[in-house]
Amino acid sequence: MEKEPRAAVIGWPVKHSRSPIIHRYWLEHYGIAGSYDRLALRPEEAEGFFRTFISSGLVGANVTIPHKETAFSFCDEVDETARRLGAVNTLVVRDGRLVGSNTDGIGFLGSLDSGAPGWDEIGANAVVLGAGGAARAVVWALLSRGLTVHLFNRTRSRAEALAERFGAEVHVHDFAKVSEILEGASVLVNTTSLGMEGQPPLDIDLAPLPARAVVTDIVYVPLETPLLALARARGLLTVDGLGMLLHQAVPGFELWFARKPEVTPELRRLVLADMGQTEADLGGALT
Ligand code: ATR
Repeated sequence: MEKEPRAAVIGWPVKHSRSPIIHRYWLEHYGIAGSYDRLALRPEEAEGFFRTFISSGLVGANVTIPHKETAFSFCDEVDETARRLGAVNTLVVRDGRLVGSNTDGIGFLGSLDSGAPGWDEIGANAVVLGAGGAARAVVWALLSRGLTVHLFNRTRSRAEALAERFGAEVHVHDFAKVSEILEGASVLVNTTSLGMEGQPPLDIDLAPLPARAVVTDIVYVPLETPLLALARARGLLTVDGLGMLLHQAVPGFELWFARKPEVTPELRRLVLADMGQTEADLGGALT
């Protein structure tokens, strides 16, 4: 009898990862015999682990902080997105080779497509706040839909390094210009950790944003960040950060368990409950 496929999320620390909830929900929902676990991997053990991943018995894995770049460097093959980002979050063993992809950007797009259909046709300019690993995936995603990206970051040099990776469609600005740039923007994305539980809120005036603009945050604890609350109070369309987490999991599940899963309201509720939140925390909106 063939062994049941086993997958895992690999990180350090990894105990707070919600990926097991998501994948185990789908395994049960679709009646698939398989498993999905947490694997805590110390940074000093990462190279050895990814070098011999093929013999781990896993069909694949999600890779999270701080291993996305290390995993990338031990793949036999990576897809175009992972190559552009220099990081992988999804691994699969295919024909004895370790194949890496990056689905964070796809998750971001999936979330906006379902939460704000047509968001990429409102205008040509997107504003991205932050220039860390998450910003990289978001910038890739926005460019893939033909938008021009305007990047703001506390540490300007980091924003410049990110822009260099992507070319002429990414512009770096000082915060002094944020109002002026927001006036012409159709999408605003926060990729900084500001607004996250225990962090100060993002200090930004949304008044210059056009009324049809969409505001989204990759922070999802709390589900309604101060930024999203502010945008909603202004009557702007908002998309919370949980959708990105759920949608980035879809391609991995399909690769490992041969079934394309759906992001359902029930799955959202399950993950929210684990975070001690409900849809009511988002003003009742079900996105
Ligand atoms: P991730 O990989 O999740 O994006 P990261 O690489 O640590 O995490 O990036 C965090 C982002 O939040 C960065 O853009 C960071 O700005 P710096 O590049 O200047 O560090 C931003 N950030 C974190 N705390 C901040 C703060 N108090 N004020 C402004 N920006 C902040």
